[in-house]
Parts: sequence; structure tokens; C-alpha cells
Amino acid sequence: MPVKRTLIIYHSGAGSTKTIAEIYHEKLKDLSPDLIPITLPFPYEILGHYDLIVLGFPTYHGEAPHSMVQFVENMPSFEPQKTAFLFTTYGLYPANALYHLGKKLKEKNCVLSFTAGYRAPATDAALLLPPMKPLFRYGKNTVKKLNNHLEHIRKCIVSSQIVEINPRFRLHALLNYPNQYFGKRVTHQLTVDDTLCVQCNRCVHQCILTCWHRGSSSLVPVYDNTHCEYCFKCVHHCPANAIMLSSKTKDAPN
Ligand SMILES: Cc1cc2nc3c(=O)[nH]c(=O)nc-3n(C[C@H](O)[C@H](O)[C@H](O)COP(=O)(O)O)c2cc1C
Ligand code: SF4
Ligand code: SF4
Repeated sequence: MPVKRTLIIYHSGAGSTKTIAEIYHEKLKDLSPDLIPITLPFPYEILGHYDLIVLGFPTYHGEAPHSMVQFVENMPSFEPQKTAFLFTTYGLYPANALYHLGKKLKEKNCVLSFTAGYRAPATDAALLLPPMKPLFRYGKNTVKKLNNHLEHIRKCIVSSQIVEINPRFRLHALLNYPNQYFGKRVTHQLTVDDTLCVQCNRCVHQCILTCWHRGSSSLVPVYDNTHCEYCFKCVHHCPANAIMLSSKTKDAPN
């Protein structure tokens, strides 16, 4: 199957996945790939312009984020088949995130041909435990890994030789299930400091799960946690540092 056009599409809360996606984009620029963040709902008709889709996402609680899963689940089944490459960023360990999202892509008639994981700054831990921040960094071998992966990807694109792979199920990831369960159940609320907020509405535009709304009685946006997956994108994009994690924890809705 000749590969003609490539789309790099990603979801990123605090920017690590975006950084890796931008490196893919820059290093493959002679092949003219396009680069976009996912939006929900997504205009799936644009995927018709591409033969190869590279999907990047952070690992949350040992899995792909709900937003990424939703993006793939709502995708039409492709005819003819499309080639897909997957990568994830993670703080400690990607568990079976690539395996599960890879399976979902195959259900959409994608030929999965490459998966990769890159250790990146653990955004949740860095926000929850600021003194530990220096411990959370990109993996030491990230540059080498990226160079090797990009060389492989380039060869696949240029030669159009796409070999289907099956991501490995990591049995030992099951040991992480208690962590995953508690990580999903107990989480933090976000609050806005009205005195700091400059009412720029960036949080409203950045949240793909539409958790932020313009307030009716005040210009300070209102947060609704019903669908929040705690990616902290709003926190990282707030120019006034007005969005904080409240000290109160709560049971997550799902
Ligand atoms: C809600 C949440 C859950 C996370 N769960 C995991 C996890 O289970 N395993 C892991 O290794 N890293 C975990 N991380 C760390 C992220 O995978 C890592 O920081 C990732 O690079 C963030 O990407 P981003 O900067 O593009 O948002 C989690 C981060 C968040 C915000
Ligand atoms: S409201 Fe929740 S889902 Fe939306 S950007 Fe903020 S942390 Fe992410
Ligand atoms: S991004 Fe920050 S400053 Fe801007 S509206 Fe949201 S809370 Fe206020």
C-alpha cells in the first residue's frame, strides 16, 4: 500500500506529548506531514486526505486518556485500510495503554505498524508534589530513541513497506491495577482564584472535554468536573496561574 500523506495528531495536557509530536513533525518535514491536536467532536472527513496517521497521547492511569479513546471509538471504519503509528508519553510506565488503543485502531480497519513510548515529565506528580518536580524528566535515552524511531518511520513512508504489528500485552501491568483503580477514583478538584483570573477564556478554548463555561453572572469561567480527566491542560495554559488544585479530594465520576 503506497503511503502518500501523513497526519500527526495528538492530545497533550501539559505539553510533553505535544513536544514529541512537534519533533516528529519537524524531523519529517521533507515528507510534508500535517500536525494537529485532537478536538472533540472531530471533523473525521479530513482523515480521508491521509494514508498514514500518527497518534500521540499521554498515559493516564495505565491507559490512553478518555478523550483519545473517545476520538478513536467515534472514528469511522476505514475503507480502504489506513496505516497507523502510535506513541505515548508516560511518567513511569505506560502499562497496556498502547496495547488497548492499538486494538481499538485495528477495529477501525487500521494497519498498526509502529508503537513507541517515551518517558516524559510526570505532570500529575509534578503538580501534586512540587518539591519532587526535578525527579520527573524526559528519559535519558529519549533523543536516541526518537532518532531511531524517526529513521524507521521515514523508511516505512518512503519505501511504502508497511508491516503490521501486534502490540504486546504486558501481563505484569496487571500488578498496577490497584494503583489504577485508586488513581481513577480519588482525584482533585480544580478551583479558580477570581482575584487572579484575567478572564481571557483560554481555559474554555483549551479544554477539549468542555469542562469550562463562560459564567452567566461573572466573567470568570465556571468549571464543571463531570467529564474532567485531569489532564491539567487548562492549568498549564492559564496565563495568570489562576487555576489551582483544591486541597479537597473527591471520588471521580467514573
Ligand atoms: C491524570 C494523570 C494520570 C497519569 N497516570 C500515569 C500513569 O498511570 N502512568 C505513568 O507512567 N504516567 C502517568 N501520568 C503521567 C503522564 O503520562 C505524563 O506526564 C505524560 O507525559 C503527560 O503528557 P502531556 O504533558 O502531554 O500531558 C499521568 C498524568 C496525569 C495527568
Ligand atoms: S478541565 Fe479537566 S479535562 Fe479540561 S483541560 Fe482542565 S484538567 Fe483537562
Ligand atoms: S485561563 Fe485562567 S485567566 Fe484565563 S479565563 Fe481561565 S482561569 Fe481565567
